[in-house]
Amino acid sequence: MAKTFDENTADIKNQEKYTLRVREILKSKGRTPKYYITTFGCQQNEADSERLSGTAKNLGYQKAESMEDADLIIFNTCAVREHAELRALSKTGQLKHLKDKNKNLLIGLWGCMVSQEKRVEDIKHKYPYVDFVAGTNMLHRLPEILCDVMENDRRRYYVDELDYSIVEGVPVERNNDVKAYVSIMYGCNNFCTYCIVPHVRGRERSRKKEDILAEVRELVENGYKEITLLGQNVNSYGKTLEEKCDFATLVEEICKIEGDFTLRFMTSHPKDVSDRLIEVIKNNSKVERHFHLPVQSGSTRILSEMNRKYTREGYLETVRKLREAVPDIVLTTDIIVGFPGESAEDFEDTLSLIKEVKYDSVFSFIYSKRPGTPASEMEDFTSDEEKTERMSRLLALHRENITAINASYVGKTVRVLCEQDEDENGFFGGRTSGFKLVKFTSENKDIYGKYVDVKIESFGESLLRGQNI
Ligand code: 5AD
Ligand code: SF4
Repeated sequence: MAKTFDENTADIKNQEKYTLRVREILKSKGRTPKYYITTFGCQQNEADSERLSGTAKNLGYQKAESMEDADLIIFNTCAVREHAELRALSKTGQLKHLKDKNKNLLIGLWGCMVSQEKRVEDIKHKYPYVDFVAGTNMLHRLPEILCDVMENDRRRYYVDELDYSIVEGVPVERNNDVKAYVSIMYGCNNFCTYCIVPHVRGRERSRKKEDILAEVRELVENGYKEITLLGQNVNSYGKTLEEKCDFATLVEEICKIEGDFTLRFMTSHPKDVSDRLIEVIKNNSKVERHFHLPVQSGSTRILSEMNRKYTREGYLETVRKLREAVPDIVLTTDIIVGFPGESAEDFEDTLSLIKEVKYDSVFSFIYSKRPGTPASEMEDFTSDEEKTERMSRLLALHRENITAINASYVGKTVRVLCEQDEDENGFFGGRTSGFKLVKFTSENKDIYGKYVDVKIESFGESLLRGQNI
């Protein structure tokens, strides 16, 4: 359950005494301490890392250019697939020599991977130079953790203290000055059978509407042009709030904020896309014309095994409604290939769905067994070779679709928010309203952070190329 406002205030206030103490300790070392944060995983993790950075700065650290130069290194980890975990562990292995060189260096592992007890045991035994480990819901407690490690000179594991609160007021250091992430909710209650997220990020809880509106207002006042609302399942925003508010209403109210900015959101669960949300998107030009709608599989049988709570037909109906209301909407999706028990026929259903919907991007992943999830207990007869083969077929089909889609942009003019200044090859970079990457030339060089019109001249598989006109 979300805490009341007063409890939240107390939580973050609690950190003040630790902040003062850590500042003193750092000062006594006689040089400016530096921090380095590496983020694995999704946008939510990136947003969390911006808060870890903000807190480190508030404690007196400055950003280090490299890990070699840092006194505090934090890896903000992901657990969604085994590959992400193995990458974080392998990089953690490479930190040992840094610890040997700099005795003052503190190393922390944060987030989803280390919200699993088994992984914490691994860290305790196999990585003795890791000083602290903290789960996703400890974000506001970095000062307390560092204070504990520094004063008591001991390793700390903040994992089983599952305190699923929402804490406002954590300092933030944003990575980008044009686009900003705003978390609107945390956790997930869906329990898709393949997914580790509900186990590592806990139950769904929403931030209060007023807090979200205040954050967006401040960002817009500070010149941010694009706001992306984040949540594991943004469509179910508000269900835990005392003062009821749904996602469509939240989007509508954010659009009323004055200023030249646009809005994106992710991720949406297909079962919760309401007609009202579609109406709100249609009626508000501030909402970008992009909808990321992870389907996961085109087979109703597999969707049921995944506990997705929608059918192939239900999903296609949502797509139809979205396209009818907003004809230029760009659709993207996530797909899992080789879920336990996925037959050749089930996979054909996925291919035919992709053929039908024609997504602009498909993020496809081979199923990865996550210990503790129901799917990890399901029987799986498909060989790894077969799964790889299915993945290649899926990618080939998507490539066909995207070639036709991208070709249809040639000769058209699109509005792009310039997010990358001119590179050494003379190209600026940005995204269309539909989130399509555009590389373009421009005679006017003063366009970073501004909207420009780009005439599309050619395309690649994952980008459009053109000229600012
Ligand atoms: N194996 C493979 N892919 C997964 N995803 C989530 N869990 C798994 C898993 N166990 C994918 C889903 C989700 C995206 C963020 O990651 O497609 O939408
Ligand atoms: Fe994000 Fe899920 Fe990975 Fe956690 S496990 S970082 S919520 S993708």
